[in-house]
Amino acid sequence: MINDKKVLYSGMQATGNLTLGNYLGALKNWVSLNEEYECFFGVMDLHSLTVRQEPADFRKKARNLLILYIAAGLSPEKNCIYFQSHVPAHAELSWLLNCFTYMGELSRMTQFKDKAAKHADNINAGLFTYPVLMAADILLYQADYVPIGRDQQQHLEITRDIAERFNGIYGDVFTIPEAYYGKAGAKIRSLQDPAKKMSKSDENVNGSIYLMDDPDTIVRKCKRAVTDSGSEVRYGEDKPGISNLLEIYSVCTGKTVEEAEKDFAGKGYGDFKLAVAEAVISVLKPMQDEYGRLLKEKDYIDGIIRDNDEKAAYFANKTLRKVKKKLGLTEMPRK
Ligand code: TRP
Repeated sequence: MINDKKVLYSGMQATGNLTLGNYLGALKNWVSLNEEYECFFGVMDLHSLTVRQEPADFRKKARNLLILYIAAGLSPEKNCIYFQSHVPAHAELSWLLNCFTYMGELSRMTQFKDKAAKHADNINAGLFTYPVLMAADILLYQADYVPIGRDQQQHLEITRDIAERFNGIYGDVFTIPEAYYGKAGAKIRSLQDPAKKMSKSDENVNGSIYLMDDPDTIVRKCKRAVTDSGSEVRYGEDKPGISNLLEIYSVCTGKTVEEAEKDFAGKGYGDFKLAVAEAVISVLKPMQDEYGRLLKEKDYIDGIIRDNDEKAAYFANKTLRKVKKKLGLTEMPRK
């Protein structure tokens, strides 16, 4: 508990181009959580290093992700928005927790297996211990809730296992976190293959709408989206392409899927796709404008980074001190 509120923690890796799926499925839903919870949202730049990064590009991407959080509506006063690498406690606790995590457990992580297969030339130890750093992120802030997608459920599970193991030996040190599902975030699928989710790592750029795509690109991608046989704009299992577009339209306009179906009764796929594109643009454009404005506000952003890093470090260090004491690490003598 912080300020009588339960704590909620989440974050995104600082790499890859965020998609409409990331926005509608996660970021957008984070915006109002601070009303009920004390919220921390990290820019997970240490996690990004499990894949080789080009330094100048990486530096820019990480900072821009923080700016994007704010442009998307996350208030930097009401939430703690900060860089993982600016709070050394993450790396420290990660080491300590490594000593309470088994090779066997980590070997079972499906994301490790997938990523190892994908980056066969760079299967580094960081990729293997990725979930332990994630556990440190969450446990440092004594988080009660962690909003995550399906692909991260296994990582939250191992976080709970590590925390319970530690608590079992040393007493109640860590809060055991739970997944936060809230009102179901939209599950947006690839425009080119609705069997897959819309992903920032998709090689087919036409499958994803990126948050920074300009209106022409959005129109083009919507027009090219795969559709299903028939010509009716209707939601259904036999119509995965149209259903996905209906879902996007519905979240972007705030209408229900049924209302959307009514809007397009008797109209063809062409009209519908154009309307989907317009709905997406009406959501992304204001955010892009705000992002462009914030990019120029260097001093303002620097100030936010300083304040929030400090706030994050305060809570993280509190937990880290407790952990070190429990483990019997000697304290630094005071002057
Ligand atoms: N692994 C998460 C992802 O790729 C990002 C992440 C890192 C995270 N640490 C976290 C998410 C802590 C929630 C809580 O999506």
